[in-house]
Amino acid sequence: MTILVTGGAGFIGSNFVYYELNKHPEDRVVCLDALTYAGNLESLEEAMKNPQFRFVRGDITDRAAVEKLFEEERPEIVVNFAAESHVDRSVEDPGLFIRTNVLGTQTMMDASRKYGVKRYHQVSTDEVYGDLPLDRPDLFFTEETHLHTSSPYSASKAGADLLVLAYARTFGLPVSITRCSNNYGPYHFPEKLIPLMITRALADESLPVYGNGLNVRDWLYVEDHCAAIDLVMRRGREGEVYNVGGHNERTNLDVVKTVLRELGKPESLITYVKDRPGHDRRYAIDPTKIHNELGWLPETTFDEGIHRTVQWYLDHQDWWKHILAGEYQNYYEHMYGNR
Ligand code: NAD
Ligand code: TYD
Repeated sequence: MTILVTGGAGFIGSNFVYYELNKHPEDRVVCLDALTYAGNLESLEEAMKNPQFRFVRGDITDRAAVEKLFEEERPEIVVNFAAESHVDRSVEDPGLFIRTNVLGTQTMMDASRKYGVKRYHQVSTDEVYGDLPLDRPDLFFTEETHLHTSSPYSASKAGADLLVLAYARTFGLPVSITRCSNNYGPYHFPEKLIPLMITRALADESLPVYGNGLNVRDWLYVEDHCAAIDLVMRRGREGEVYNVGGHNERTNLDVVKTVLRELGKPESLITYVKDRPGHDRRYAIDPTKIHNELGWLPETTFDEGIHRTVQWYLDHQDWWKHILAGEYQNYYEHMYGNR
């Protein structure tokens, strides 16, 4: 079987490419990625050596390029990871998020219709549900929770999700959607909270915590997310949404302090900076459906996952130093210069 993975040079996509090549060596994995600032071919170096893997540079909004690839590869399963994924960037440039996340999804689904696929899987996020109040720990996002977005990023992902469900109903496209909580692990671009804190702490630089640091995220080790997607795209019911998360809620401050402890660095590096506009307070997933229907459960505890992640960044300094030496530095100045 051929699986077309878009966005496979990004954080979760690259982890997913390795997950599939290891777990299903009989399947061929084709990656379509535009290599935006977030795409990094160095993350796919090992995969490139595997004859079951093919990398193609291309934009998911480029209809001709997408159709050419479908023509060549005739994939049975399409998994769409490709997206603009950083909330802070979506505040700076909403249009890019609508283009890639909504129009790109449409283009991938049009090709999936035209050439016929067994499954079109959309990788979505818990952010489509908006946020939960901090003083109601009894509330969780279920698949029935209304979409109620806060940022241009989450709005673009929610728009894509609605389009996916519309293609299922109107055209009978065999779709599925997973909505996952915050991931962490290897190959995570160092603009996101955990890798940003690891790489800055290693350089004894200040750690910018937004607002009072009490916003809550529900963290999942990336491999557990890959396992969930693999199950849903192969065995999940058509037309269904599955929430993915492991009941691992932490305040940002708690996460940053855990990273500092793991690295043996002082908490005095923490610096409170101006809050993110519209900053979601709390995300918390109820994963009952995927557990009951597909038997999915997370396998990596937070302590174990953070330990492994920190170790990965220590062992792969070239990977992130190459990124820091590039465009990222201008980006950092731009985002944090006046904060
Ligand atoms: P990422 O930003 O690390 O990677 C995105 C990848 O998509 C990059 O390789 C980039 O080059 C590629 N890309 C961007 N625009 C493209 C385009 N127009 N055409 C082709 N490729 C393009 O993102 P990530 O964190 O790996 O997230 C992957 C998916 O998972 C996204 O859809 C995101 O919404 C979703 N998600 C992420 C998280 C998380 O915690 N990171 C949680 C839940 C869901
Ligand atoms: P992020 O990794 O951007 O993921 P998301 O916004 O999609 O949840 O941020 C995680 C949390 O960390 C979020 O509440 C914002 C906060 N944060 C900081 O406090 N400082 C930072 O420098 C960054 C990037 C994020």
